[in-house]
Amino acid sequence: MHGRVKIFTHGCQMNDLDSQKLYSELARQGYQATDDDEAADLVILNTCSVRQKAQEKAVSTLGRLRVLKRHKPGLVIAVAGCVAQQEGAALAEHFPEVDIVIGTHQLHKLCDLVAEALTRRQPRIETAFGECIPSMDIVPDKAFLSPGHRAYLNIMQGCDNYCTYCIVPMVRGREISRDHAAILSEVRLQAGRGVKEIFLLGQNVNSYAGGVPFPQLLKEIHSVDGIERLRFTTSHPKDVSPELIECFAVLPKLCSHLHLPFQAGSDRVLKAMNRNYTYASYLKLIEDLRRARPDMAFSADVMVGFPGESDSDFQRTLALIKVVRFDVLYSFKYSPRPGTAADSLADDVALPEKSARLDLLQSLQKRITLENNQARLDKVYEVLVDGPSPRHTHQVFGRTTHGAIINFAGSSSLIGETVAVKVTRANQNSLTGELI
Ligand code: 5AD
Ligand code: SF4
Repeated sequence: MHGRVKIFTHGCQMNDLDSQKLYSELARQGYQATDDDEAADLVILNTCSVRQKAQEKAVSTLGRLRVLKRHKPGLVIAVAGCVAQQEGAALAEHFPEVDIVIGTHQLHKLCDLVAEALTRRQPRIETAFGECIPSMDIVPDKAFLSPGHRAYLNIMQGCDNYCTYCIVPMVRGREISRDHAAILSEVRLQAGRGVKEIFLLGQNVNSYAGGVPFPQLLKEIHSVDGIERLRFTTSHPKDVSPELIECFAVLPKLCSHLHLPFQAGSDRVLKAMNRNYTYASYLKLIEDLRRARPDMAFSADVMVGFPGESDSDFQRTLALIKVVRFDVLYSFKYSPRPGTAADSLADDVALPEKSARLDLLQSLQKRITLENNQARLDKVYEVLVDGPSPRHTHQVFGRTTHGAIINFAGSSSLIGETVAVKVTRANQNSLTGELI
């Protein structure tokens, strides 16, 4: 097989990793990656369906690809990811231009499906569920890591929590963990290729069950030579164990950042969401984590307008934000998702009210983010340099252990190196510094 492939990636880091894997598998078959839609012989749309807006984006991109195919009838179109899983054959019926629909557990079959699509013009639908270990075991090529010194690794997929708003259990399936020996050998392989940062991924990494408990997995990866930084996402507050908190006290390579979605501040709403923690127990976790690692930075996901959310419920969300003082907050308006428990509840917070709450929340967070950045002025941080600064020539950018982005004057020879940088300016979403 040969030709050019372009992958459109929507959604989360899990999808970014899946795209790296698909590019790698196709490159092994002779495909070349391209950025140019017009030059592609194969396009893959890697979709997200976690919120209604994400799904709408997939549909609008599909509309564009449709037009592309009119000019180039030989083009093969594949749809992957959560919308593909959710819609299955219906997707190919609505969009006859689609040649392949490939579900979240079937990535390892993509090359075979492409070969079939090239010989038989009939939609191929592969959305069987259950065994996703072969997909998780695909190791991306170094050429597709971005940046080249950071490797994302799947350690588990799926979710058993059934938060009432969430489509993930339906589109990623129940929790399945990858064997810890396979993970360790991938970490060693990546370290041998010069990778310095390992980023573990799963919908709920804290309930990892691939032979050793999650904190033990962290310790094993921590001891691999060449690995300088270790991160993971996503965590569920109910599964952050004392042993995991202890890891932040004893594992220096574990970065001082945790993404810990809280979704809402009101106990009543948290209960209706089936989250299994409270305002108070969430804050206790934050305190314990700060005790283990005093400079710990937090990010989270939160939503406004869950069914029945009153103004006083919403005030609890604002209160929690003020206490924790997250560095980054990903905030969303609730949207009903098909097949979820909350879909049967009345979506009774009117859209203008959802928008008003989101605006309030985001302006509060904007202020906190800037203040957190200002608190870093004049401090010196170790920065792993990711690449040339997208906006300034003769500058590079990297990340601190907290995940903060910092730009500073330096040559591209620093990319992949860890250097000490002093913060000289605090911006809204990044820092500026100077090499010392
Ligand atoms: N509506 C709005 N936001 C949602 N999320 C998940 N499901 C929904 C939904 N139905 C948000 C949550 C989750 C993030 C990935 O997306 O905050 O943590
Ligand atoms: Fe969805 Fe809840 Fe699972 Fe996260 S923990 S993926 S929000 S069901």
